[in-house]
Amino acid sequence: MKQRERWSSKLIFIFAAIGSAVGLGNIWRFPYLAAKYGGGAFLIPYVIMLLVLGVPLLIMEFAIGQKMQLGAVGSFKKIKRKLSGIGLGAVLCGFVVVSYYTVVMAWCLIYFIYSFTLKWGASTKDFFFNDVLHISKGVGDIGFISVEIIFALVVVWTLIYFSVWKGVKSVGKVVMVTMPLPIILLIILFIRGITLPGAMEGIVFYLKPNFAALLDIEVWSAAMSQIFFTLSLAFGIMIAYASYQHESSDIAKTAIITSLVNSGISIFAGFVVFSTLGYMASTSGVPIAELAKESGPSLAFIVFPKALSLIPFAPFFAVAFFVMLITLGIDSAFSLVEAASTVIYDKYPHVRKQDISLYVCVFGFACGILFTTFAGLYYLDITDHFITNYGLVIVGLLEVWAVGWLYGVDKLRNYINQVSDVKIGKWWNVAIKYIIPVCLVILLIGTFLKDIRTPYEGYPQWALFCFGWLILGGVLLISYLFAHFSNE
Ligand code: PHE
Repeated sequence: MKQRERWSSKLIFIFAAIGSAVGLGNIWRFPYLAAKYGGGAFLIPYVIMLLVLGVPLLIMEFAIGQKMQLGAVGSFKKIKRKLSGIGLGAVLCGFVVVSYYTVVMAWCLIYFIYSFTLKWGASTKDFFFNDVLHISKGVGDIGFISVEIIFALVVVWTLIYFSVWKGVKSVGKVVMVTMPLPIILLIILFIRGITLPGAMEGIVFYLKPNFAALLDIEVWSAAMSQIFFTLSLAFGIMIAYASYQHESSDIAKTAIITSLVNSGISIFAGFVVFSTLGYMASTSGVPIAELAKESGPSLAFIVFPKALSLIPFAPFFAVAFFVMLITLGIDSAFSLVEAASTVIYDKYPHVRKQDISLYVCVFGFACGILFTTFAGLYYLDITDHFITNYGLVIVGLLEVWAVGWLYGVDKLRNYINQVSDVKIGKWWNVAIKYIIPVCLVILLIGTFLKDIRTPYEGYPQWALFCFGWLILGGVLLISYLFAHFSNE
């Protein structure tokens, strides 16, 4: 049997895990949610969810991968044959995410080129929707494929491929740059941001608590799904990455460091985003609350280009901003490719890993083409909603059920404590067996009821069916059939 690949050092593993966790989710998703759900008050559910859900789950995924020495499918299969479907479900959910995530990276690449001349001009909204996306009138009008975006998408996938083609050896080298570089750029933008006039108002808006929001279950659901997304949980990524660690490597401390650094960066990024919004509000006269509404995917492409162009030495900061986004995104994107390739390689060890990665990248690119059409933004929005709010949560639920109730929490905790410096108490058993499943079930039911009552973002039912329920159902059905017919 071939020797399993290994990270060249413990530090590189931590870099790779943090690189996967820290991504576009930290820059636009987190600050946007913070603004939407009451600024400072969002931080409370977010931190609670990080501790109750994020840390225990990350410890669990690291432990499973490292103990089993296999990717997500093989690891769950070792617990019980039919559980392999859970691993496949995770990788497929991650795959759907990465197919549109790379399209957002393609937009970043286009904006990176435009940054040198600030090509977006004064009307950044028109520029984004008309000149870059060529957005169609509605979800039913697919239009054509945008040549510029698809070209950028090819470049993005090429970069991803060359980051993973030599497996963890090349990943290890690339993350030495793609993990620290965006953080350095973020610090530069932070210093620039907080010294701008009006920055303080933005920061107050970001941090001002609104405790009434805590009574709203939606805030808690948003905090919960953000924790899944941001820690790359239920994607099969952390399992695959940990499987390249030696069986005796530390788990608990590594998981705690990864989660704290990741959330620290999110909170820090919030300062950059809101101080810049505060500046923009003070120069344009538009209230911050109005500007914050533009957040989400458009924040990076509408609000930021505008704010950046108002700053002296604008092209420098604009280039820094988009390089930051690209480098933030790339190590998240390739972590998923590595997770998928690991699963395939575990099954077909005679095929060259390089070839497997190539097939995964080509397939990922092909799936992303849909999102490069003139109606791509609508499809992206719907797919993202369904896969993050249902797909990841269902897979997470199945994971804790498999570990908590079938494998045995004590068995896994004993292993974790044998190899880790920081010892995990009985609280972890309670979290995995009871607290996390209960939270996830409540979240699932809550989101489902809301979606049934009001169609997501007012999209027509057929579109929600095709790009939401059908994709989600497809992922779950394939995983189920795979598990059902797996017979070795
Ligand atoms: N953790 C990533 C982020 O916050 C999410 C992600 C992981 C997306 C892997 C794609 C692939 O951006």
